[in-house]
Amino acid sequence: MKVGILGSGDVAKALGTGFVTLGHEVRLGSRTADNPKATDWAKTTHGKGSTGTFADAAAFGDIVVLATLGVATEEAIRAAGPSHFDGKVVIDATNPLAFSAEGLPSLAIGHTSSAGEVHQKALPKAHVVKAFNTVGNTLFFRPSLPQGPPTMFICGNDAAAKKKVEQILHDFGWPSVVDFGGIEGSRELEAMCIAWVKSAIALHDFKIAFKLLKA
Ligand SMILES: NC(=O)c1ccc[n+]([C@@H]2O[C@H](COP(=O)([O-])OP(=O)(O)OC[C@H]3O[C@@H](n4cnc5c(N)ncnc54)[C@H](OP(=O)(O)O)[C@@H]3O)[C@@H](O)[C@H]2O)c1
Repeated sequence: MKVGILGSGDVAKALGTGFVTLGHEVRLGSRTADNPKATDWAKTTHGKGSTGTFADAAAFGDIVVLATLGVATEEAIRAAGPSHFDGKVVIDATNPLAFSAEGLPSLAIGHTSSAGEVHQKALPKAHVVKAFNTVGNTLFFRPSLPQGPPTMFICGNDAAAKKKVEQILHDFGWPSVVDFGGIEGSRELEAMCIAWVKSAIALHDFKIAFKLLKA
């Protein structure tokens, strides 16, 4: 499978490395084609990873991942060209964060909308699935924790797209996936990012993840 990832940060690189390890081809996209973070990452992929602009990455992917600064993702989608996403599954890993003077995050939008919904509206012919946004990037791939694998929460409007993402999550080492329903579930999933950050600060430990326990 070919995977286009919009982003050159830790999230894009961690997901890119996961997909490459599973044998997929990955192209990271940036505002410029020669972003050094992306080109340095590509050198670690034994030829499976490449780089380009946001448009190059979106056109390349059979599926596309949104892994850009949350509040700039609409801009990244516009730069990529929305038609490059038509008919594709789009994994949205972003969180629309605003930061206080002390560096603490809150949601820039919420309650009545969410980044997931905004991105689905910007990509009306694509199938956006929110995933990977409720955990730190160091645990994206094959999370190994003493209490067993954590739970990934997803949402999106298209059942087939969610099945595809669920399979990808299983391949990434997440056997437990909870489907929140339509893309408006991003309002809760994006708020869970704030709960994750506050928990990490309280525990002085950023290698944490949510796990849903059942009786
Ligand atoms: N860090 C985590 O562990 C984690 C976990 C889950 C979800 N998330 C979410 O995942 C997303 C990516 O996080 P990150 O920490 O990897 O990176 P980030 O620093 O939030 O974003 C970096 C990316 O955003 C792009 N960008 C920045 N300003 C832009 C603008 N004005 N217009 C277009 N693109 C712009 C950059 O483009 P260039 O490539 O051109 O520099 C780069 O690709 C965020 O939404 C974050 O909230 C983060």
